[in-house]
Amino acid sequence: MANFARNSLKKKKFIIFGGGFSGQFIANEIRNLGCEVLTSSRQIQTNAKSFVFDSLSSVLPPEHIFDGTTHVLSCIPPDKDGNDPVLSRLHNKLKNLDLEWVGYLSTTGVYGNTFGEWVSEKDPVKPLQNRSKRRLRCEKSWIDSNLPVQIFRLPGIYGPGRSTFESIFKKNIKVIHKPNQVFSRIHVADIANAILYLLLEINNDNFKQIINIADNHPTSQIEVIEHSYKLLGLKMPKPMNFDDAKKLLSPIALSFWEENRRVSNTLLCKDLGYKLIHKNYKSGLKSCLKIIKEKNLR
Ligand SMILES: NC(=O)c1ccc[n+]([C@@H]2O[C@H](COP(=O)([O-])OP(=O)(O)OC[C@H]3O[C@@H](n4cnc5c(N)ncnc54)[C@H](OP(=O)(O)O)[C@@H]3O)[C@@H](O)[C@H]2O)c1
Repeated sequence: MANFARNSLKKKKFIIFGGGFSGQFIANEIRNLGCEVLTSSRQIQTNAKSFVFDSLSSVLPPEHIFDGTTHVLSCIPPDKDGNDPVLSRLHNKLKNLDLEWVGYLSTTGVYGNTFGEWVSEKDPVKPLQNRSKRRLRCEKSWIDSNLPVQIFRLPGIYGPGRSTFESIFKKNIKVIHKPNQVFSRIHVADIANAILYLLLEINNDNFKQIINIADNHPTSQIEVIEHSYKLLGLKMPKPMNFDDAKKLLSPIALSFWEENRRVSNTLLCKDLGYKLIHKNYKSGLKSCLKIIKEKNLR
């Protein structure tokens, strides 16, 4: 995968702030190209490729980790006040590095509710949830940072270890029917691959500062769950209607159901020519299940 980036990224050094689900996946893909990649965690890890960074503590990353860094990616969400954890603690440090590129993982929540309509980077942002207002504030801080920033707006992220299969196995899946409600999604492998693809464009006229990374097929959650049960050869529980389900959902889970939008990937896939690995959830789930079976994870 991403062999196209192998030569152009030779000898580059990446720091990824936030080595969580996406951060670790992206780090591994970039390491596969032969680059050095360090990831942050709030806890001390035994892994030598990890360093500690917690914006809420007074401890900053050790100076030496920045030596020779050419690329930085932040996968850390805004703090509770809407400040960006990386910029609030490390902006001065980053400004003094010779950075070629800085990436920021944002969310399509900044578009707010489009009542099921398609939304693209050209549309105005209208964040509805407070967390999306905080996110927009962080996007603006990155844009104003004078760093060579590129922002990726992401819908629901899934992939190996984080998919409907895990919720089914843990028996905490909620099968909810809400007519006309859709969600957009992206497989984590496409986040990594699209970022590497876009890195090839940073010095040409095609460079775009804000890009949605979403698959081709926004759809209802129930369709995805139904397909997951089918792939497992299991019977899906009877769906709850949304009004009944509301009482069982946490405020944060409920807030996701208050927004209904189809996220367009036209800029990424048509204008910039990126080819998705997983065009839709069926392809993405098939690959997640293959890994579950290969690794005997059930
Ligand atoms: N999950 C989704 O469906 C989704 C959708 C759209 C956008 N996003 C956004 O995309 C980014 C990556 O998502 P993800 O789901 O891969 O994230 P994740 O697994 O939750 O990882 C978040 C990372 O941020 C670190 N972190 C959190 N608060 C921090 C702080 N105050 N100081 C330092 N580090 C901090 C965490 O540290 P630890 O490793 O120590 O926990 C973790 O490594 C996030 O900004 C997320 O909000 C997520």
